[in-house]
Amino acid sequence: MRQIINTYHHDLTSDPERLAGFYEAIQNKAKGTVYDIGAGSGILSIWASAHSNFVYAVEINKNVAKRTRSRLKSFKNIKVITGDARDTLFLKNADLKRADLIICEMLDTALIDEEQVPVLNSVMKYLKEDGEIIPYGVINCVEPVQTAVEHICYEEHGKPETEVLGDLTAYSTIKFKGSPTSKLKPIEEKFDTVVDLKINSKGMISGMKITTFTLITPEIICGPTPMLNPPLIIPTNSLKVDSGDNIKLKLSYVMGGGLDSIKTSIKKIS
Ligand SMILES: C[S@@+](CC[C@H](N)C(=O)[O-])C[C@H]1O[C@@H](n2cnc3c(N)ncnc32)[C@H](O)[C@@H]1O
Repeated sequence: MRQIINTYHHDLTSDPERLAGFYEAIQNKAKGTVYDIGAGSGILSIWASAHSNFVYAVEINKNVAKRTRSRLKSFKNIKVITGDARDTLFLKNADLKRADLIICEMLDTALIDEEQVPVLNSVMKYLKEDGEIIPYGVINCVEPVQTAVEHICYEEHGKPETEVLGDLTAYSTIKFKGSPTSKLKPIEEKFDTVVDLKINSKGMISGMKITTFTLITPEIICGPTPMLNPPLIIPTNSLKVDSGDNIKLKLSYVMGGGLDSIKTSIKKIS
């Protein structure tokens, strides 16, 4: 879980690549009624307020919400609501209208360790039929690696070092809603797949590196940044490989279920 500490929202709002993508998307998509779910510092609500009638900024953390409410008090079309977005009681608020746009940045690599999917599954029914969601979705990719790590961890500033032994392979695309006219349906939180991976260097595979590309909109794609989906290194059983080999990866996890929900196994395809 990403920790809510004083510097956390400062770090989020100091990550130019993450911010640039969300800024452009909000400029293009905000209108009517907007929900900013997991508002944090309120930066996305502020950007949305300039283009919409009203923004409901929902934040679970009481201290964060209090600071955000105080910081945003001059914005007459933003209401900060303290509450858990999975518990849609906050939506029973009489003056609350269905959303033209839901903004929800609770992203984490492959959507595993944050509540993006369970939260969207709760809130989505309050989106207008032709409403949109920012971000639009994610593309998840995997690479076989040689690594000394024994525990699942994120790659930060090139650490821990890994040697990539095979092709980067896309294994899943999750679209939170699809096109503005797509029917809304809950996203399956349990995920499992089998992926064939091509090996291009000799070595000992001992892990998988997952890289998530965020489709902030279908046109605005953001790779990993320091505060958005850093690559995830998952140790696996060890397998000696040569260039030209193919291996089969079994991968499963629960989106929103935490890193402990990840299971992997690899074997050579003869
Ligand atoms: C990654 S931060 C994003 C903050 C801000 N929207 C931004 O992009 O800078 C996610 C925020 O969602 C909040 N959050 C997490 N789970 C939540 C929930 N179930 N309901 C409402 N807010 C939640 C966290 O406290 C945190 O402030």
